[in-house]
Amino acid sequence: MQIKNKAFLAPLSEYTTAPFRMLCKRHGADITIVPLVSATAIARRPAYADRIDFSDKIDDCIQLFGKVPDDFSTATDTLKEKFPKLKWIDINCGCPSYIVQEAGAGSALLDKPQVVARTIELLRNKIPVLSVKMRLAGTWEKTAAFAEEVTNAGIDFLTVHGRTSRQGYSGKADWEKIREIKGIVNVPVIGNGDLQCRSDGEAKVKSSHCDAFMIGRAAMGNPRCFENGTTNGKDDAVEVMKEYMGICGELECAHISDMRVKALQMMRNFSGSAKLRGEIGKCKSAGQLETLLGI
Ligand SMILES: Cc1cc2nc3c(=O)[nH]c(=O)nc-3n(C[C@H](O)[C@H](O)[C@H](O)COP(=O)(O)O)c2cc1C
Repeated sequence: MQIKNKAFLAPLSEYTTAPFRMLCKRHGADITIVPLVSATAIARRPAYADRIDFSDKIDDCIQLFGKVPDDFSTATDTLKEKFPKLKWIDINCGCPSYIVQEAGAGSALLDKPQVVARTIELLRNKIPVLSVKMRLAGTWEKTAAFAEEVTNAGIDFLTVHGRTSRQGYSGKADWEKIREIKGIVNVPVIGNGDLQCRSDGEAKVKSSHCDAFMIGRAAMGNPRCFENGTTNGKDDAVEVMKEYMGICGELECAHISDMRVKALQMMRNFSGSAKLRGEIGKCKSAGQLETLLGI
């Protein structure tokens, strides 16, 4: 699989739903990933996988989190059975959430590269494409040791979010460290952190010598960022929201709570947007939201 210069939509738990992933693909995202799903939950109860909104018409990859290599292996078997066209699993080694870390998963795995290497060993022959998404570890030595061990274990790509887990989302992503990681590993690297649009990503790919880039939060309010478009102004924002609601209808997943969340993100930074967001919060049906936005 070629990823040179491709634009990835970052996995954003509870936000990048199937209709949102489709919206971003229609606006230039090249690769979409189903956000983190518990490998252990699927391993213990295969029916848990029924909740996953993977669609081979939209998505490229499902991301798993966990800490037990055998659970990743069992979960991958289940996912392959349920989604025969699934070709790509990503292993989450970056989630900073307290609950996930306390369970020994997400960014807690940055301290346990051998567990991730064992997971890769088990998954390698089960799935054609395998990747890891990491954050920076507490020190450069740990970061480098982790990146080297997991890439040597046999993954196809490495995504690096240039922040530590302790930073959460504060400060700036360290693209210099992303460049240094690219310099020591033998697989393509996808750089991630603070990118606003495609041209921003392309410039960072050049300066960091990465292979591709990933955009997360900027896409939440502006899914057009992948084609360097904007949702500045009410007319643009309403147009994109109308498209989103249309996709929700097409995919038969028009949930008002989800549509409200998206509208709240998109209706920003124009005159009257704060008042409008207050009204959006009160909408109880798609019809009410459409009337409010004049769709
Ligand atoms: C609401 C939210 C949910 C996220 N969920 C996930 C997730 O499920 N898996 C993951 O690897 N990263 C997750 N992330 C991290 C993003 O994928 C990305 O690495 C991070 O936001 C930095 O990129 P950005 O600066 O472009 O937003 C999440 C981030 C946010 C803000």
